Amino acid sequence: MKKKTLVLVLALAMVFTFALSSCGGGGSAEKDEEQVLRVVTEATFAPFEFTEDGDDEIKGFDVDMMNAIAEDQGLKIEFINMEFDSLIPALESDQGDIIAAGMNKLAGDRAEKADFGDTYFESDLMLLVKSDSTLTSIDDVTPDMKLASQIGTTGGEYVQTLEKDGKIAQGVVLNQWTDSYMQLQNGDVQGVVVDKPVGEAYLNSHSDIAKFVGEPFGDHEEFAYAVQKGNTELLEKLNTGLAHMKENGTYDELVDKWFS
Ligand code: ARG
Repeated sequence: MKKKTLVLVLALAMVFTFALSSCGGGGSAEKDEEQVLRVVTEATFAPFEFTEDGDDEIKGFDVDMMNAIAEDQGLKIEFINMEFDSLIPALESDQGDIIAAGMNKLAGDRAEKADFGDTYFESDLMLLVKSDSTLTSIDDVTPDMKLASQIGTTGGEYVQTLEKDGKIAQGVVLNQWTDSYMQLQNGDVQGVVVDKPVGEAYLNSHSDIAKFVGEPFGDHEEFAYAVQKGNTELLEKLNTGLAHMKENGTYDELVDKWFS
């Protein structure tokens, strides 16, 4: 009899343990450590996201906005710096949770690969040239010229199309915006196709050696934050946080801080 009782007690104990773990009774539902969301970006895009003098700390408008939205929505975030054309693949392969990178949500097939939130900034492309350039607009470029921009971006797409159409000799697409500016100053390229607010930030400290020419061109851009396809809950938090930042004045303060 005793042996049967022992077997019954052990069996009941196993059933109870299994039931506890499968209904999250093991504390999985009340996980103490909140998930840290990985915000991926490409930090040579001042004043949206950039680093200075070899320091790994990422600063900028998108950084401040993400931190403000995270605080408002009770999210924990960390920033991960990578090449721009790796950002959407990072979401697709679960190597990132949010893209905050001045990314135009209307461009190409991006919206098929990630879910974009509400627009937080608008922009257009501009042509940046050396101060002594005789170019007066993007329409003046000639087939012997080279124009630089960043790989994977709307600017990069634009210069590669000019090359394909025979309008320029080469669309030079580089990993970092800083390399594009360097090639302009070295005379390796005759212009840089860049987002207007980013070119303005560069000119703030380089107006002696560079200038904008002509009017904005290309498709009008709407920058938005993005999440992994289907993560509706997180996207709604980002949109709600953005709305709160616009309502409480934080958005305007950050625009003044980074774009005045
Ligand atoms: N607005 C352009 C695009 O969406 C350029 C974005 C570049 N952003 C960056 N962090 N490098 O393609």
